[in-house]
Amino acid sequence: MGEVYQKLMQCFESVRRQTAFKPKTALVLGSGLGDYAGKIRVEAVIDYHDIDGFPVSTVSGHAGKFIFGYVEHVPVVCMQGRVHYYEGYPMSDVVLPIRLMKLLGAETLFLTNAAGGVQQGMKAGDFMLITGQIASFVPSPLRGENMEELGVRFPDMSEIYNRDYIRIAKKCAAELDIDLKQGTYLQFTGPAYESPQEVAMARLLGADAVGMSTACEAVAAKHMGMKMIGISCISNPACGISADPLSHEEVKKAADAAAPKFQALVTAMIKEIDASCR
Ligand code: HPA
Repeated sequence: MGEVYQKLMQCFESVRRQTAFKPKTALVLGSGLGDYAGKIRVEAVIDYHDIDGFPVSTVSGHAGKFIFGYVEHVPVVCMQGRVHYYEGYPMSDVVLPIRLMKLLGAETLFLTNAAGGVQQGMKAGDFMLITGQIASFVPSPLRGENMEELGVRFPDMSEIYNRDYIRIAKKCAAELDIDLKQGTYLQFTGPAYESPQEVAMARLLGADAVGMSTACEAVAAKHMGMKMIGISCISNPACGISADPLSHEEVKKAADAAAPKFQALVTAMIKEIDASCR
């Protein structure tokens, strides 16, 4: 058994000693997306520190926990805080939580993040449905010996974000009167924000939003056969896109203002997606 798989199993057994809860949907909460965890009827909480071998985030404000419980009647596991590649972890550690949630039972993965808007006209507080991604600027989480227990050596990536879920997301947004943009998410390693020239390159490549997470997680999840949906909360126009200098205060205000809408959208989508899987 390889080291990466062994560590994953160690984490799985550690969680299973603490809860028998079996989620159907896994949810990753990006920074600045409001306290969605408050919407969950909580059954169990496990601090990342209490899972043997689990990579624990070093960034203050990113300390994390798994929240197990129900959104309406749907059993979910929610990651409050994720590990980023820029913190220095190997990619296999960055995606370990995703793999773990699949092993715990989750077949659907709902990814969220805060991102810089590259598409013309995007402004702070906008939401973007992720319809495709560019992960080529970060190492693949699948590099190294393939774990046959998880998936095949050369997984297909033609439909990372599930088309049915994308249709459901658009329907939910329309019903809630939410203007949902859509586009391609590009992951850079960070931690520096992009230069205007890098944003111009991202745009030339077809990116609509840029960030420092998500795409690698989606690759690992797709490898394991999870069905995915992704939403970016645009916290700022990416560097050079807007003539205005970025104001942290304004970005924060926009994110806070967007939180209730975002929460309503996430809840509606979890319900509808679950209904579509029956
Ligand atoms: N670039 C990269 N990551 C981000 C940004 C950005 O402009 N905003 C929020 N996360």
